[in-house]
Amino acid sequence: MKKDFLTLLDLTSEELQALLRRAAEFKSGKDVSACPLMGKSIGLMFNKTSTRTRISFQTGIYQLGAQAIYINTNELQLGRGESLEDTARVLSRFLHGIVIRTYEHSTIEKLAANSTIPIINGLTDLHHPCQALADVLTVRENKGRLRDVRMAYIGDGNNVANSLIEAALLTGIDLVLACPKGLEPDSMVLENARSGGAKVRVLTDPAEAAKDADVLYTDVWISMGQEKEVERKKKKFEGYQINRRLVSLAKPDAIVMHCLPAHRGEEITDEVLDSPRSVVIDQAENRLHTQKALLEMLVK
Ligand code: CP
Ligand code: NVA
Repeated sequence: MKKDFLTLLDLTSEELQALLRRAAEFKSGKDVSACPLMGKSIGLMFNKTSTRTRISFQTGIYQLGAQAIYINTNELQLGRGESLEDTARVLSRFLHGIVIRTYEHSTIEKLAANSTIPIINGLTDLHHPCQALADVLTVRENKGRLRDVRMAYIGDGNNVANSLIEAALLTGIDLVLACPKGLEPDSMVLENARSGGAKVRVLTDPAEAAKDADVLYTDVWISMGQEKEVERKKKKFEGYQINRRLVSLAKPDAIVMHCLPAHRGEEITDEVLDSPRSVVIDQAENRLHTQKALLEMLVK
């Protein structure tokens, strides 16, 4: 039975812990000669731009002994009206897995329902689970644990925030989000995590969220595909910038995270992003190690 990774909750807590252990092993360089995916082909289907996701998957797939096939969907017959269902059925006969980045989450659900190979979510408007894998590894590396680590996410209640909420459910991270009114995370994601026992609070005051935090996290205010909403959204983010003042409210050893790309001077200042507290480049590197562990787990 194939297994997809459409949201973080496609993994159990135990599977996530195993994946983190394996990612750390890959990172340590112990297993450099292992090519568990020798001879396989993984499609990378992107409808939005990407630096980290695309290149980390492409490199990781090569390191696992497989080949990555980058697919610009406009160059497929899909762009001329072939159905997603037929595309999924046909690609399942050639490939051993597909990483897809697109807009509506329902698109990847449809792709997964019609494929016989694992489908991996490389970001949708609703979730960014591969990012959350790297995020939890980064927190664990810096804080030595996940349970009860106080994370303050300050900004837009977007795909990254939704996946962090699911990470809180699986790991015991104590997550406080500060989001402007009307820009809260997805209510179903939130409700589901809370009913499973996750420690997740949603506030509107960034200072209250930042107080005594172990981790400060932010993401862009305008996500890919929301370019028409710039004026409406930006007004709401006054006071939500991670800057020196907000950092001073967190614990003295707090780290600063951002999934990148950053809009410097908007959601975060240069000063904070480039400070010794910032772990954003390690966080980006961890995309490679965690995704290799994920591919090894899913692609048979
Ligand atoms: N964080 C992240 O997913 O970056 P890219 O958009 O560059 O892939
Ligand atoms: N929320 C951002 C994340 C980019 C990696 C977006 O969807 O554009």
